[in-house]
Amino acid sequence: MSKSAILIEALDVHKEFHTEWENLAVLKGVSFKLERGPMHFIIGRSGSGKSTLLHLLGGLDRPTSGKILFEGQDLTSLGEERTARLRNKRMGFVFQFYHLLPELTLYENVMLPAMMYGKPDHGWIRTLLSRFSLLSRKNHFPAQLSGGEKQRTAIARALVNRPSVVFCDEPTGNLDQETAESVFALMEELNRNEGLSFVVVTHDETLAWRNHHVYRMQDGILVRPERPGDGRLTQKSS
Ligand SMILES: Nc1ncnc2c1ncn2[C@@H]1O[C@H](COP(=O)(O)OP(=O)(O)O)[C@@H](O)[C@H]1O
Ligand SMILES: [Mg+2]
Repeated sequence: MSKSAILIEALDVHKEFHTEWENLAVLKGVSFKLERGPMHFIIGRSGSGKSTLLHLLGGLDRPTSGKILFEGQDLTSLGEERTARLRNKRMGFVFQFYHLLPELTLYENVMLPAMMYGKPDHGWIRTLLSRFSLLSRKNHFPAQLSGGEKQRTAIARALVNRPSVVFCDEPTGNLDQETAESVFALMEELNRNEGLSFVVVTHDETLAWRNHHVYRMQDGILVRPERPGDGRLTQKSS
C-alpha cells in the first residue's frame, strides 16, 4: 500500500446529539489534515467535543454530516463490517480506563485483536510484552495489575496488529503523575523510533505542549492555538 503523507482528513465535519430535551451541536464544521508521523494532540476543556471527534476519526461513530478520510478511504461511506476490519488492521485505541476484559489474562487481552481477522503472532506479542516490562505479568488478570501496567497492556494490545496510528483518549487521565510520565515517555519512544503516529486527546496541556502538534477544540471547531510562552508553535520537520 502506498503511504501518503496524509493520515486523516476531516472535511466540514458536524456532529449533533439528539436527546429527549435538546439537540446538542458538538462539532460545527471541523476541517483539518493530520500528517503521518507526528504525535498530534487535541486539547480543550471538558465537554468541548474531544472524545466525540476522536470517535469519529477512529470510525467508532459517524458524523451527522461531513467526511472523514482515513488513509484516503472515506469512513463515512464504508459499511460497518469494512469499518470494523479497517479499525482492527490499521488503528489502535487506548482509553482512560483501559477497557481491558477482566476475565482474560494480560496476554489474552493483548492477543484478542489479533484473533479477530487472523492468527496471533506470538513472537511479536512476546516482543511487545518484554519491551513494556510486562512479560512476568502475562498470566495475571487486570485486577492484579497497577494502573501503569494496565495502561501499558492497553498500549501493547493497541499495537498487536501493527497499526499505522494509535488513538488515545485521556491515556494518562487515571494515572498519578509519575506513572503518567512513564506511560507518556513510552508513547513518545514508539513515535520516535517506530514512526508510529498518535492522535492523543487530553486536557493535560503540559503533556501536549512538549514539542508536539497541538490543536484545540473550541466552540465546536478545531483551531491551532498559540503555544503558551513563546507565542509560536513548535513544528517537527516531518
Ligand atoms: N452519545 C451522546 N449523547 C448525547 N450527548 C453526548 C453524547 N456523547 C457526548 N455528548 C455530549 O457532547 C458534548 C461533548 O462531549 P465529549 O466529546 O465527551 O467532550 P470531551 O471529551 O471534550 O470532554 C458533551 O456535552 C457531552 O455531554
Ligand atoms: Mg472526553
